[in-house]
Amino acid sequence: MGFIQHKKEAYWFYRVLSPLYDRWINPLFWTPAMRSAALELARLDDRGLRTLDVGAGTGFSSEGIVEHVEPAALTLLDQSPDQLGRARRKPDLAACRMVLGDAERLPFDADSFDRYVSCGSIEYWPEPQRAIAEAYRVLRPGGVALVVGPLPPGGRLARRLAEAWMLFPTEAQYREWFARAGFHSLETADVAAPWQRDGGARYGLAIAGRKPAAGLSPTPQTPPREDLREPLTPRRRLCLATRFVLGSLAGLAFVPIGVALNLRARRHRRRT
Ligand SMILES: C[S@@+](CC[C@H](N)C(=O)[O-])C[C@H]1O[C@@H](n2cnc3c(N)ncnc32)[C@H](O)[C@@H]1O
Repeated sequence: MGFIQHKKEAYWFYRVLSPLYDRWINPLFWTPAMRSAALELARLDDRGLRTLDVGAGTGFSSEGIVEHVEPAALTLLDQSPDQLGRARRKPDLAACRMVLGDAERLPFDADSFDRYVSCGSIEYWPEPQRAIAEAYRVLRPGGVALVVGPLPPGGRLARRLAEAWMLFPTEAQYREWFARAGFHSLETADVAAPWQRDGGARYGLAIAGRKPAAGLSPTPQTPPREDLREPLTPRRRLCLATRFVLGSLAGLAFVPIGVALNLRARRHRRRT
């Protein structure tokens, strides 16, 4: 497991990153064009759809969702008050409901949403299967879940850094988690980065599935292994600090890589 693929570590990661997120970090890796392409799989085809955005962060993907759905029908959920606080300040999200909570233990009744969307959050979930079973539980029969996340990078060094940082699942893993959770009619689409060239390593994946019947997911219902509110023992505090530092350093290495790749893509676009 990646060093930041834990709830407390991810919480601290975003305490530090949140002030920089919208302006300096997110635009390097997740653009409006990528968001629009990915959201197509969620079939947001009615403005009244009760939609849940999980790991909504500062609301970047939510801003894409409210282009299709009434803001009052959208709920944003995130475990980070720093991230959600920034979403609260965005005028186009003012009418949305915002809830602090855990993707692996959603504070909502079964069968209560028409759409579930989660972009760029799965990489922090200690038990992705559990979170996807939760997506299944809260959707009504016929509802659609969309998860967008990264794929393992191509180069050996990038892959090592990525694995030290957080979770980069394979397409087969995404598919298995969806199928096991009980979703039918699975659909996937590649999410291409602005710098991606033909034949280069794939960057991200959008996967969607439909809930066939009411009720809970057929996966075993166990309590989550991690709880953000659990008090820390001194040993666990040391472990958290070590993981936080190592994981953040591995993650930080992707920032200059992202800057360089974006600049190269921009130069290439100017020339053509
Ligand atoms: C990369 S940001 C993505 C934000 C947003 N979806 C977007 O498209 O910009 C990942 C978000 O997932 C949240 N997150 C991580 N683990 C979570 C969990 N277990 N439950 C809820 N949110 C979580 C983080 O706090 C962070 O805001």
